[in-house]
Amino acid sequence: MSTATQSSPLFSRNLRKQYPLAVRGEGSWIIAADGRRYLDASGQAAVVSIGHGVPEIGRAMAKQSNNIAFAHTSQFHTAPAEELAARVLALAPKNFHDGGRVYFTSGGSEATETAIKLVRQYFLERKQNSRYRVISRKQSYHGSTLGAMSVSGNVARRAPYAPMLPEWGHVAPCFCYHCPFDKTFPECQVACADDLDAFLQAKDSSTVAAFIFEPVVGATLGAVAAVDGYTARIAEICRKHGILLIADEVMSGMGRTGRPFASQHWGLQPDIILTGKGIASGYAPLGAVLAASHVVEAYEKGTAAFMHGFTYQAHPVSMAAGNAVFDYLETHKLFDRVTPAGETLRKALAALESHPHVGQVRGLGLLQGVEFVKNKSTREPFPKEAGIAEKIREAALEKNVLTYPSQGCVDGSRGDHVLLAPPFIITAEECRLIAEALQHALAKVFPA
Ligand SMILES: Cc1ncc(COP(=O)(O)O)c(C=O)c1O
Repeated sequence: MSTATQSSPLFSRNLRKQYPLAVRGEGSWIIAADGRRYLDASGQAAVVSIGHGVPEIGRAMAKQSNNIAFAHTSQFHTAPAEELAARVLALAPKNFHDGGRVYFTSGGSEATETAIKLVRQYFLERKQNSRYRVISRKQSYHGSTLGAMSVSGNVARRAPYAPMLPEWGHVAPCFCYHCPFDKTFPECQVACADDLDAFLQAKDSSTVAAFIFEPVVGATLGAVAAVDGYTARIAEICRKHGILLIADEVMSGMGRTGRPFASQHWGLQPDIILTGKGIASGYAPLGAVLAASHVVEAYEKGTAAFMHGFTYQAHPVSMAAGNAVFDYLETHKLFDRVTPAGETLRKALAALESHPHVGQVRGLGLLQGVEFVKNKSTREPFPKEAGIAEKIREAALEKNVLTYPSQGCVDGSRGDHVLLAPPFIITAEECRLIAEALQHALAKVFPA
């Protein structure tokens, strides 16, 4: 049987859809039960960094499982967890080096939940009990659980759960192509960053604990990087109001944009960094919260006990996967490959830019996006109902290329883009196949 049927016992993402059965992975390719080969141009959801089907990872996980598969973190640490934490911290900005610590989770949403509680308790430790709100940006995504959703600005993903979500405040994103203030960089002097300052002045910053943002916005905006000067101004505003800065690098971290963490493109030193996805390249469910030294110190001087925990945090087998992925990245120098491979992908995509409905090709490293517009000169988006991003995805699939479509980049509802985030091992020939599939999709969705 090559596809899951409607009688599947799985609570699928869409109960009306048929899903092929993935049976094998090879490098940048996924092979289905019927033998069809898919080029994974999106790394699934910007997860797969070292490629599919690397046998060393499975071997390391099996070895760990045979030694000790599980030990509860209230009773034990394990060597692979200590090792992975040290390796992740060594990649992080220097304010994490001397006394920073890592809290491992089973994914990005748990990392966001952990950070929300970590910053709240940080202020309790410092006897600033009024601080609890976490401010975020419009058109952002920080995870699916209710806490993470409450700080996410992704309108569509929030909508069904709106009554259940506290509204702590969302400020403007940094998105020049559709600037919320109708300004132009650099004359704007990053007015979007000042929106945070204005918000904090107007809405009682004494109850705010932190600001969370994606230095490169992944799914919601389609690989939109902060402009120069933005992150420095944000950090300054956070300092001025005495709040912590959380960089959500669940998607952009672990090398995906050409630096270990995207924050490092601008020399940013956040107080907390979240990561996930690429940290185990999909071989195990894994996320992480990195706490800078001074955040840890507040706990050390206070109760020293974070009132939070998951049964599966720092799971030994996931830790083994993370370390094996790290080994692979280092041995094959894959971090160094991201920038040149990103340039190769961008060159391959350059031909798309002249299409009348391609508004922009953008991104950093191997986190890139293509936005589709109705009118290229006014940048007017298509109506949501036209479902352009999904149509592009379907048409690219005819050429066996997997992309990650999304809507809402303009105003939370309108604005179509696809995200491209292939494994770091993507070849020039595979980049050409991706561009060719998108050309085919454009021709199919917008016939002359
Ligand atoms: C920036 C960002 N934060 C958090 C998450 C949530 O991660 P997860 O799906 O692993 O829970 C995602 C997932 O796409 C993400 O892109």
